[in-house]
Amino acid sequence: MKTNYKWLRFLLAGLGAAALAGCASAEKSEVGQISKRPFGHTADGTAVDLYTLRNKNGAEAGISTYGGLVIFLKVPDRDGKMGDVVLGYDNLDGYLKDSPYFGALIGRYGNRIAKGKFTLDGKEYTLAVNNGPNALHGGLKGFDKVIWTPKILVSPSGPSLELRYVSKDGEEGYPGNLSVTAVYSLLDDNALKLEYTATTDKDTVVNLTQHSYFNLAGKGDILKHEVMIPADRFTPVDSTLIPTGELKPVEGTPFDFRKPTAIGARINDNDEQLKFGGGYDHNWVVNKTMGELTLMARVYEPTTGRVLEVFSTEPGLQFYTGNFLDGKITGKGGWVYQFRNAFCMEPQHYPNSPNQPNFPSVVLKPGEVYKNTIIYKFSARQ
Ligand code: GLA
Repeated sequence: MKTNYKWLRFLLAGLGAAALAGCASAEKSEVGQISKRPFGHTADGTAVDLYTLRNKNGAEAGISTYGGLVIFLKVPDRDGKMGDVVLGYDNLDGYLKDSPYFGALIGRYGNRIAKGKFTLDGKEYTLAVNNGPNALHGGLKGFDKVIWTPKILVSPSGPSLELRYVSKDGEEGYPGNLSVTAVYSLLDDNALKLEYTATTDKDTVVNLTQHSYFNLAGKGDILKHEVMIPADRFTPVDSTLIPTGELKPVEGTPFDFRKPTAIGARINDNDEQLKFGGGYDHNWVVNKTMGELTLMARVYEPTTGRVLEVFSTEPGLQFYTGNFLDGKITGKGGWVYQFRNAFCMEPQHYPNSPNQPNFPSVVLKPGEVYKNTIIYKFSARQ
């Protein structure tokens, strides 16, 4: 009889384990180097998933279907130690309540449009004014706050996740149904690649970008990070951060990053442009041929040896030094995000382009395909 009990116990234990495994597979599923788990619900009850892309080196990128947000990005330092190099929250609630665009896909128009107004084909359009007197980052519910439809793609160069969203004609005040595809791939050379394509059924304006907040040390401020931006000019702004229209040489200004320079070296200089931005919050006119995929910036963090290289097909780069972070947000792992604890590198067209005829055009017409590639490539050096 004794042995029978033993068998019964064994059987029950086996059933328990099977039930647990069953739950786990319902909660988490895996396709190649991509796994998926539930990440919570939006206020209207829509389920949000978090996809984890893992490359052959063990680097990982977590992407949510809400906002296409990069929730975490784990890359090696000079000793091969993985660390998360982006700011954000541990759970969806933080993003839903209060997020300064952490990790987000930004659209339909990234950056500012003066007074929330522009004219296209003789018709004036009015957008929500959500940043002082201006429109910022696509409006009250921009692409950072919508649910994207995911699809896992099979690719030989690393795991890829396709996200799709159709922005309706008139949504946030913009004309035309805009069909957007954003494909994130985590390549085996530790590059996170984002490829946007978009088409419209009416003339519209488009400026898509990515808004990850980086800190290559994974803690503290970013003042010792060294930045190189291959740009001879930048677009100076007025006090509301709208470009004046001038393409100003960086020569002799704190905006000259043509040689690697610590972010903190000149950020507090007595300079009107730095005062307007509260630090760097400007668009650099990168030296390049329009549409070519080129290096836009290189950033080196001396304590970990991590290097971030930003490549893009876009003509400009908004370099923002987290000047609006002020200790009010407690993010991942209890880190209180203080002033300048992160920087953003947002490849894009110049701010307020719809109202600046001398800036490269952001107009997309029916029959045309908008394309924009952004690559954040990580490495480490001694
Ligand atoms: C962009 C802007 C900044 C700021 C951040 C979000 O980078 O240029 O001024 O609005 O987004 O806080």
